[in-house]
Amino acid sequence: MSKQPLFNHPAPEALDLLLTRRSGSAKAMKAPGPSKKQLADILLAGARAPDHGKLFPWRFIVFEGDGRARAGDILADVLEAEGEREKHIEEERGRFLRAPLVIGVISSAREMHKVPVWEQELSAGAVCQNILIAATALGFVGNWLTEWYAFHPAVKEKLGLKPGERVAGFLYIGTAKDELEERPRPEMDKIVTRF
Ligand SMILES: Cc1cc2nc3c(=O)[nH]c(=O)nc-3n(C[C@H](O)[C@H](O)[C@H](O)COP(=O)(O)O)c2cc1C
Repeated sequence: MSKQPLFNHPAPEALDLLLTRRSGSAKAMKAPGPSKKQLADILLAGARAPDHGKLFPWRFIVFEGDGRARAGDILADVLEAEGEREKHIEEERGRFLRAPLVIGVISSAREMHKVPVWEQELSAGAVCQNILIAATALGFVGNWLTEWYAFHPAVKEKLGLKPGERVAGFLYIGTAKDELEERPRPEMDKIVTRF
């Protein structure tokens, strides 16, 4: 059941979070990850992304617990079939184990619909960002990654993507091992013009 939307309701803490949020490297994450209830809220926040036409042109794949190891096995199997060297295969087997939780956001845009595919894919990006923000609001760090396996046809198939579906992002979520360092941000006067 959806919540009643707020209107004309300042939320200064939310703004503060947006002005300070940053990603944490998946390599620098540790347990704990979100609880069951927190994960449900993170997914709900993702599914509240703006979406032209109420198409909901995206879906989620949750990787946690053993599911992360099974996903890593898929990467390893694919690389083994391609004749990769053993050391690399074993590194890739651990990919999804870097964080306690990984959420795959899958873009399922409808072709030939009056809402352009571009807008449907933008909506999937907004889903990813909502997830990052929700995870941060709950005190976790997130890292929006695609890496090679988001684009690999055999991996996509083994993860259950249907033809035409694309990975918008793998959202790695966990507790930060270290303080986060700020990164360069755009100079606002270079990207803002007034018409
Ligand atoms: C669609 C998308 C895909 C990304 N894929 C990768 C990736 O594969 N590898 C990587 O190192 N960073 C990737 N990034 C960048 C990381 O998310 C990066 O850590 C983040 O943008 C840092 O910015 P922030 O601190 O403002 O969140 C990606 C970002 C986006 C939006």
